[in-house]
Amino acid sequence: MKSLIPLTITILSQIEKGKSIRVELRKTISEYKLNREEESTLYSLVFEIFRKLNVIDLYIKKSSSSFSIKKISSKTRALLRIATYLLKVDNRQFEYVKENLESYYENIQELGFDEILKLIQDIREEELYANRVDLASKLSIEFFTPTWIVRKFINQWDEDFATELVSTFIQNLPAYVRVNPFKSNLEEISTNFRSKKITFETVKAIDGLLKITESELPIPQYDVFKEGKIVIQQKASALTSLVLNPQEGEKILDMCASPGGKTSHLAALLGDGSNIEAVDINEERMKILKERLKLLGITSVKTTQADARTLHNQTREEYDKILLDPPCSGSGTYSSRPEIKWRVKQRDLRWYINLQQDLLKEASKLVKKEGTIVYSTCSLYREENHEIISSFLERNSNFSLAEATPMLGLPSQLLQNKAQELYPHIHETEGFFIAKVKRNS
Ligand SMILES: C[S@@+](CC[C@H](N)C(=O)[O-])C[C@H]1O[C@@H](n2cnc3c(N)ncnc32)[C@H](O)[C@@H]1O
Repeated sequence: MKSLIPLTITILSQIEKGKSIRVELRKTISEYKLNREEESTLYSLVFEIFRKLNVIDLYIKKSSSSFSIKKISSKTRALLRIATYLLKVDNRQFEYVKENLESYYENIQELGFDEILKLIQDIREEELYANRVDLASKLSIEFFTPTWIVRKFINQWDEDFATELVSTFIQNLPAYVRVNPFKSNLEEISTNFRSKKITFETVKAIDGLLKITESELPIPQYDVFKEGKIVIQQKASALTSLVLNPQEGEKILDMCASPGGKTSHLAALLGDGSNIEAVDINEERMKILKERLKLLGITSVKTTQADARTLHNQTREEYDKILLDPPCSGSGTYSSRPEIKWRVKQRDLRWYINLQQDLLKEASKLVKKEGTIVYSTCSLYREENHEIISSFLERNSNFSLAEATPMLGLPSQLLQNKAQELYPHIHETEGFFIAKVKRNS
């Protein structure tokens, strides 16, 4: 544990600067060649701290009025968060925490680290609930989620649904992998998994998708992943390409394509002769997309780095089918990316909504008559889902809603039961929304 502390401090500081937990963990594990036990301790330490950050910070805040957690150095903040997690969430003894962290101690203004930890140790859990009268702010502590998010969920559904949903944010969702037909097949992967003692179940309605029920190592560490024979992809994400239902000979546009989970699935559904164009605005992410396609042995996809909001200036092409999977709040992914629970604020939603609207408007200019657009997000917020689609349909009478089948999620009552919603507590996958609109002839 002791040797992992400086690595954890660095990772926590990097995440504060906007980096992704998973990327930082993977980088650190490979750079320092951590063994299996160290890796799993580091994973759970970093994940747990970010999943429960509001409560950890509240303990720190209540411990002393002589400093503000925002005003101390990021290294000291990280160390305090680790210590508080160990003391109050992991229920470790004070001596254990001191022994493991002491060599990294810094003074926090006029107080010493030990004194602060003793103050934190004495805070009772009930004190965190002081002055929290409404249900949302109580659930915010119980399920480690910002109050505005809980309140939003209660308003969107009801208290029971919101409570069940937020309770999944502190749990791990199952991992899924998709067999890549360009490099392997179900038989080879099944045999390989059995030899590695990886247990799995096939997923009904999504050919080649496997739910991993047990594995000794994280999936990225197995050769079949490194060799591009399987792709890690959530069930809801894989469903999106099926809803687009690409057919041979059709011209397909993937407007926001990187890192390519859905692009590669579309290519897999179509085989070698596919006619897919994958666009992404971001240079770095475009590089990732190209590398991913190369690893998977997919050569037929045309990649273009461009702002998809203005594609019609560059191309007069009309597409048969367009997949629009735009940037979103990511509120369906709080379990696997807990850092964004704290990073994406309520005030940021407007920015996402404007971008989503602009991209959908552009898609409507590029799709052929009788063509379809599939719109998907990993968001649970209606503003980014139903409201984007209904306001688009209000403004574009030449489009109508089509059935987003196969329907594995809940049919969206707000959209004539034609779009679908997936929820972590019901569907064992990230929160997701999939709608399909059709351009009339
Ligand atoms: C939700 S991710 C897409 C995930 C991808 N569809 C997949 O399944 O792997 C959104 C992507 O949109 C890209 N993006 C953001 N703004 C864009 C724009 N104006 N034009 C094109 N791509 C954009 C981002 O760089 C990001 O890679």
